[in-house]
Amino acid sequence: MSEPRVPGGAGIGVAGIAAAGTGPARLGERLLRLLPGTDPAEEERKKELIRTHLGDCRRIAVISLKGGVGKTTTTLALGAVLASVRRDRVLAVDANPDAGTLGRRVRRDNTATIRHLLSELPRVSSYMDVRRFTSLARGGLEVLANDPNPAVSTALDETGYRRVLEALRRQYPLVLTDSGTGLTHSAMQGVLGLADQLIVVATPSVDGADSAADTLEHVAARGHAALVERSVAVVTGVRSTTRPVRLDPIIAYFEARCRAVRLVPHDEHLAAGGEFDPRRLARRTRAAFLDLAAAVAEDFSVPAPLPRTNPMAHAWDVATGATSG
Ligand SMILES: Nc1ncnc2c1ncn2[C@@H]1O[C@H](COP(=O)(O)OP(=O)(O)O)[C@@H](O)[C@H]1O
Ligand SMILES: [Mg+2]
Repeated sequence: MSEPRVPGGAGIGVAGIAAAGTGPARLGERLLRLLPGTDPAEEERKKELIRTHLGDCRRIAVISLKGGVGKTTTTLALGAVLASVRRDRVLAVDANPDAGTLGRRVRRDNTATIRHLLSELPRVSSYMDVRRFTSLARGGLEVLANDPNPAVSTALDETGYRRVLEALRRQYPLVLTDSGTGLTHSAMQGVLGLADQLIVVATPSVDGADSAADTLEHVAARGHAALVERSVAVVTGVRSTTRPVRLDPIIAYFEARCRAVRLVPHDEHLAAGGEFDPRRLARRTRAAFLDLAAAVAEDFSVPAPLPRTNPMAHAWDVATGATSG
């Protein structure tokens, strides 16, 4: 694992900052800023922000080099709050080439997967055509699952992903993509190349944050530095027993590297890993996801980062006659 660098720092990783320690006076201050309150006026302001009109389809990619950190869960819960507050179509796509679990966390309307949609694309034009391949989860989020068999799901490549996303663009103002762990996988090139915004997920531990930091450095090195600067970091599964002294250096790192960082508490409903139901989240978890959605939506009024930094994106647009990414 490469040593992540903190901008403006002395080339030390998250672990290095943790070892150095930080002043206790700053801890409470920073944590207070990050944990959302439940003031109704403040929540209404966040909802207004989330309802920002989107002129063209926005694509949000949820990433992390490490498995089991909460990408799929964050995609579902963030997607659910975006869908229920915006009340327009929000879709979560499983682009994990390694048998993604997004489809297992919702009640399925059908057994279709992204592979089926891809093979039917020539006959898909209206929303009703697309809807045959998606499932409507509780809370209003639509989900496009991947194949549970890794031998099949791994076949989704960059071209396939781009073709599906281009077809979805006309039907959904907002598409979230849940990803796998391999940054070099072909589909991942498409995920990063088409993303308007990245969400990097980490667990509240030094090694968890280090691997999220590694993810950001690798993504930046692959020509997506602007996306990293606009990214939102999510530290999820924070327990009331998690010591601030452990969290503070992690938060400091992401504050320096990303546009925003948000914490999500450990939640028993999420820990169970079964069918996701937003109504079963604890109140503070719901407040945390509303706050995360508002942080994501702060980017909605900013024009999409064109031209795409991935040269493949342009080549594909030209080849397919698409006007913009
Ligand atoms: N905030 C949270 N509180 C409790 N458990 C969580 C939380 N976020 C994720 N989990 C649990 O952690 C496990 C891994 O999460 P998952 O989203 O599948 O990770 P990934 O997609 O990164 O592999 C799952 O059992 C999930 O339910
Ligand atoms: Mg996952």
